[in-house]
Amino acid sequence: MSVYILGIESSCDDTSAAVFKDETILSNRVANQDVHKDFGGVVPELASRAHQQNIIPVVDKALKESGVKACDIAAVAFTRGPGLMGSLLVGTSFAKGFALAHDIPLVDVNHLHAHVLAHFIKEPDQDNKHPEFPFLCLLVSGGNSQIVLVKDYMNMEVIGQTIDDAAGEAFDKCAKVMGLPYPGGPWVDKLAKEGDPHAFQFAKPKIKNYDYSFSGLKTSFLYFLRDRIKEDPNFIEAHKKDLCASLQHTIVEILLNKLEKAADDLNISQVALAGGVSANSGLRIGLEKLAVRKNWITFIPKFAYTTDNAAMVAISGYYKYRAGDFVNHDAAPFSRVVF
Ligand code: KG4
Repeated sequence: MSVYILGIESSCDDTSAAVFKDETILSNRVANQDVHKDFGGVVPELASRAHQQNIIPVVDKALKESGVKACDIAAVAFTRGPGLMGSLLVGTSFAKGFALAHDIPLVDVNHLHAHVLAHFIKEPDQDNKHPEFPFLCLLVSGGNSQIVLVKDYMNMEVIGQTIDDAAGEAFDKCAKVMGLPYPGGPWVDKLAKEGDPHAFQFAKPKIKNYDYSFSGLKTSFLYFLRDRIKEDPNFIEAHKKDLCASLQHTIVEILLNKLEKAADDLNISQVALAGGVSANSGLRIGLEKLAVRKNWITFIPKFAYTTDNAAMVAISGYYKYRAGDFVNHDAAPFSRVVF
């Protein structure tokens, strides 16, 4: 028998609700928060207040769009972490209230696992292609950069991760130095399309295993600009497109080199991207080129499922529901992953 799952996501600055019928998406609503624009980053207190305002209208819209009645939902899945504590609390509390009111099970979801499982979301009446286990997933977002060995829906091993900044942070922080708006990643991507990726060279980290580091690149970028501005105060404006293209080229090369090494060592040929940075056109093109050379089968999610969304939470909740993996109402959110 089919089950209807309600998914709730509120880990950072997007309030989202989705309704699924088994693995098939029926609705996915996201309310973005404009309040952070003037601050150059997410302000946690403002984020949690905005979640409080958005959560009920967002759930209401998702339910209406799905055509599913609240009383027919079989379980509610919520992002338990990692994320901003104040933001997570809003989604967690709402999910508990909903579960209690409808006397249904509560399912906690790891936000990072959810990004990976977004690859299994089925669109109605479409034959969607998804990776076969085991596969590697390069999970790159504003807060994380990981290479995940995905053995099953519930069995994932992080085999490499950043030891400092995430790839998205590197994009955003370097963009900020160039005076681009927040979040800078999409701006760098846009300007890079018209620039020369080999115009400038920036430091690449020498880190062991499959781990990443982006703080050295950020510093190298900053010092490079500082020195050039001394000679020419208009340097950034005059070379913005080349700076963006060279920065993007460097970040993509760092990400893909480790991914290639991991895939070679583990003899895996199914490779997926996940997280906000997987929207980057340089990364997508780079992965496709690498896939041709290595004979990989690659999976790149639909744009709507790369950024934070509740659809990925609902699908993760569905697999946990099927496994009977529920939590009690004393389940507290975690700002860092511990489950
Ligand atoms: O997964 P995500 O939506 O949420 C967080 O981790 O918060 O990722 C957001 C990150 C930001 O750093 C943003 O700049 C980056 O994804 N991003 C991009 C692009 N689109 C979003 N970075 C590079 N190129 C893009 N096209």
